[in-house]
Amino acid sequence: MKNLKELFEHQLKDLYSAESQLVVALPKMVKNASDSKLKNAFESHLEETKNQKSRLEEICKELNIKPTGEKCKAMEGLIKEAESFIDEAEDKDVMNAGLIAEAQRVEHYEISGYGTAVRFAKELGHNDIASKLQKTLNEEYNADNKLDKLAEGRLNEKAKV
Ligand SMILES: [Fe+2]
Repeated sequence: MKNLKELFEHQLKDLYSAESQLVVALPKMVKNASDSKLKNAFESHLEETKNQKSRLEEICKELNIKPTGEKCKAMEGLIKEAESFIDEAEDKDVMNAGLIAEAQRVEHYEISGYGTAVRFAKELGHNDIASKLQKTLNEEYNADNKLDKLAEGRLNEKAKV
């Protein structure tokens, strides 16, 4: 990579890999969540994630680059960590509270990635692309807030005993 344009393209591919891995991993979170609101939250975020993946495909098309070719190792690690947590949880309420913790790590990672991508897009004069990326960024913030509310409102309390 030798300039901001190439760095931006690299970031987009990294995000594309992250979203692609999440599309595969989220059904496992859905399956293991026993609280219905949490299950719904994961299900709707799965749908959102599929859209975010398509949005990145559109963006890459506009930029004449392929979205594939990078593996996001950070997302791979976050997913591995979530999977080992799922194996270790011995109580359904602990499972719900822990799934939220794992999912929020993922959301925060994505928030940071999209935040950077929006800035780079603006910097490079791609205002339409910046708005698309901002749309995804807002969805990630909303998903994170929803999880905050589920944890604070009820699910952490239930995991105490
Ligand atoms: Fe996402």
